[in-house]
Amino acid sequence: MGTDAPYPELKKTHTMARTGRPWRDVKPPPSAPVWAVIQGYGNYWVLVAAIELGVFDALQATGPTAVAPLAERLGASPPHLAALLDALVVLGLLEQVRDVYSLNETAERYLTTDGPASMAGLVAVAPGPLDNWTRLADTVRTGHPATPIERDAAGFYGPLVRATYPTQFRVAMLTGFRIGWPRTPGAPRVLDVGAGAAPWSMALLAHHPRATAVVNDLPGVIGLAEEKAAALGVTHRVELRPGDFRALAFEPQAYDLVVLGHVCRTEGEQGAPVLIRRAFDALRPGGRLLLADYFPDNTRKFNPFGVLMGTTMMASTERGFCFTHERFQEWLEGAGFRPVRLLEPISYNQVFVATRPG
Ligand SMILES: C[S@@+](CC[C@H](N)C(=O)[O-])C[C@H]1O[C@@H](n2cnc3c(N)ncnc32)[C@H](O)[C@@H]1O
Repeated sequence: MGTDAPYPELKKTHTMARTGRPWRDVKPPPSAPVWAVIQGYGNYWVLVAAIELGVFDALQATGPTAVAPLAERLGASPPHLAALLDALVVLGLLEQVRDVYSLNETAERYLTTDGPASMAGLVAVAPGPLDNWTRLADTVRTGHPATPIERDAAGFYGPLVRATYPTQFRVAMLTGFRIGWPRTPGAPRVLDVGAGAAPWSMALLAHHPRATAVVNDLPGVIGLAEEKAAALGVTHRVELRPGDFRALAFEPQAYDLVVLGHVCRTEGEQGAPVLIRRAFDALRPGGRLLLADYFPDNTRKFNPFGVLMGTTMMASTERGFCFTHERFQEWLEGAGFRPVRLLEPISYNQVFVATRPG
């Protein structure tokens, strides 16, 4: 290659891709963030397909395996399965040595059906109705998603709350230990609003033998809580209260603990503080509210998980968004709660513990 002409003239090695526009003395930024987004779409479907094919459960059963026997076991085309497995390796979801693939710790824990914190059922349902993503620009224009989850709330929430149960049970159990729940004197009463399959009530009842819980959810969902209570042998300590929590009246000053577990963000700016005030009214003086949600940090920049969960809410709910810690603190203190603490029993799962003053 000939000698380059001196800067700032255009030269063969001085293309935009290598060094930026000739009159700028800087390299252009990499396109990696854009590619990460483009490939993120495929990455999601790689994981959905792997779960649907049973890749993780099969590798759990077989241990480290070459592609051919795994393909036979799964009824898959070997070269296509190899391409899928290689993608899972680069995504950090499998181990590979040459032709042999095995589970890594992430896959064992989160992606096998019976993993201790299985998210296998969550992957397909967590983004919400898929057509809302392809029509996101319209939603941003009009302020209304094409298929809000509220249109078939029970149909959406049933699979979701089944899938989130293992994680939320762990969050609830650890929160209970952090606040000294097992040492609560007497027979404390819990109100679990929008309980889903009731991971919060189940964990709290499991760790306090005299506690009882009023468990609320929509009629089409509450059966899941009933199943869990039966499986845990606590049916006699649970009162099921089916119905729309916006319409139900809760007894004033009757509860030691009220749980708002991942219900505030779908209620939006107007509804969330109303739920918080109603929780305050239902608590006896000295009682506590556990409010779990996904919160962007106050600058909305440093917790991508919370910010992107807010985008998911915007894409698929009638009025849902995620709200910052500061916002929740205003609502909690505005309702009269003091003090207000924030716990993070497991990563990204934060819980406000707010006390109704005695
Ligand atoms: C994201 S899930 C959270 C479930 C559970 N509290 C947890 O923390 O895992 C939200 C729950 O609120 C319930 N829900 C939503 N709107 C409701 C309403 N208006 N009345 C009663 N339950 C409602 C849904 O059916 C769903 O089970």
